[in-house]
Amino acid sequence: MYADLIVKNIGNLITMGEGKKPRVGKEMNEVEIIKDGYIVIKDGKFLEVGSGEADKKYIGGSTLIKDAMGLTVTPGLIDPHTHLVHGGSRENEFSKKLDGVPYMDILKAGGGILSTVNSTKQASFEELYKKAKKSLDIMLSFGVTTAEAKSGYGLDLETELKQLEVAKKLNEDHPVDLVSTYLGAHAMPPEYRDDRDKFIDEIIKALPVVKEKKLAEFCDVFCEEGVFSIEETRKILNAAKELGFKVKIHADEIATLGGAELSAELGAFSADHLMAASEKGMDDMAKAGVIADILPTTSFNLNKDYARARLMIEKGVAVALSTDYNPGSSPTENLQLAMQLGSLKLRMTPKEVITAVTVNSAYSVDRGKEIGSISKGKRADFVIFDTPNLEYIMYHFGINHTKDVYKNGVQVVE
Ligand code: NIG
Ligand code: FE
Repeated sequence: MYADLIVKNIGNLITMGEGKKPRVGKEMNEVEIIKDGYIVIKDGKFLEVGSGEADKKYIGGSTLIKDAMGLTVTPGLIDPHTHLVHGGSRENEFSKKLDGVPYMDILKAGGGILSTVNSTKQASFEELYKKAKKSLDIMLSFGVTTAEAKSGYGLDLETELKQLEVAKKLNEDHPVDLVSTYLGAHAMPPEYRDDRDKFIDEIIKALPVVKEKKLAEFCDVFCEEGVFSIEETRKILNAAKELGFKVKIHADEIATLGGAELSAELGAFSADHLMAASEKGMDDMAKAGVIADILPTTSFNLNKDYARARLMIEKGVAVALSTDYNPGSSPTENLQLAMQLGSLKLRMTPKEVITAVTVNSAYSVDRGKEIGSISKGKRADFVIFDTPNLEYIMYHFGINHTKDVYKNGVQVVE
């Protein structure tokens, strides 16, 4: 059988093995690196991986041969937590931030998330599409081939659906694959402040509509002091689970509320943020197999503590990393920066970092069977980094190391 594409002369080939399950604890650091590697691709999937030369039997008249020139190749990166689709931006709050006004105080005063809710309500489908597409192009340029995208800037059904429809259309049109999440419970609209239960009911009533239209496969809640309580989060996510949604939680970002513990109780795919997660919460997550999705660019941007990634890894939790791209707490699409902070601030080794943004992030968005490793049968999404080795990506920080990006075996960035 002739191959469609062979990539040869790969100095350091990081396959992540077969990627049959998330890597927990010290497995995150047990990453094998193939020297002088090659990859064989057929019909958009990986067919074979090895060291040295690919077998001549794969080479026919139409087989493309790509010379990786001794550089570094990894699976396509996966950003498992973004707020991709939204209107406007919030640089008007930047000086307040620099003056030290806390993120939650800006929200309580009607700014923050609520300000983006207004901009998103006002934006047309086309405006949202254009802005999000620009961000997706940037993500792809950094080597991201799959991203999760949340709603959450509508807080009314119409606008939430508009955001999710934009993500759906972009998923069809753009090389980056999107996994959609309904985040109706992202903030309490001011008009419901005195009747919180009514808003919770509205969200629960919206769930079957989102489901029916097949607009999201995950449901998420911003579980935080002053936003949605543990009880409210439990109620919403149990209702979501009953309808067949998979669940995630914005957990223990600022206050130690018990979001990590709740994620384990609910069997969430991931608990995200976790800067203030308790040790008990981490133990519960390890036991229940909930992936810790850590967002170091958010800590950096909010000038807050970083999540205790080392302790989580020690406890046997599977860690993923993402940008949290959003206009407030993390206005960046740069997953390589999250990886670099993962090493520099979370003290994760480069091998743990690459595990976090490939196989573990794939499982945190329930795509682990199709992507996240360079192994037979998986989708041929991969990145050629212009670096001599893996360490260099984290060491030389703040720039984009991507040379070429391939999606389903086709070059999409060169
Ligand atoms: O994950 N923390 C809650 N939600 C987002 C921020 C959204 C915003 O500020 O617009 C986050 O950090
Ligand atoms: Fe978020």
